[in-house]
Amino acid sequence: MGRGIFGLNECPHQGIPMIFGSITGTMVTSNPQEYEYGLNNEIITCPLHGWEFELKTGKSLFSPDQVSLLTYDIRKEEEEIVLYLKRKPENISINDFQCSPLCK
Ligand code: FES
Repeated sequence: MGRGIFGLNECPHQGIPMIFGSITGTMVTSNPQEYEYGLNNEIITCPLHGWEFELKTGKSLFSPDQVSLLTYDIRKEEEEIVLYLKRKPENISINDFQCSPLCK
């Protein structure tokens, strides 16, 4: 069984399509007065304002616990690809349904 992450194509800042973002690396923690590039091909950068997100998790680099791309688990189960949505199933009862005056 394979497993991955599927991301919604929308930046959490102002909703620009992330499909236009670039997949790059970024500057990583290094010693003072040194600049080190790392995480090559592990980062997606928003094309509008440059927010950076981890491709594997969707989490932002600047505030990983608070800002992230909306992602879903995607798994290969036998011969099918299954997308696991995080929405709760809703039970809709016929009692909750209200008919308009025109349909009575
Ligand atoms: S819209 Fe993506 S960083 Fe602003």
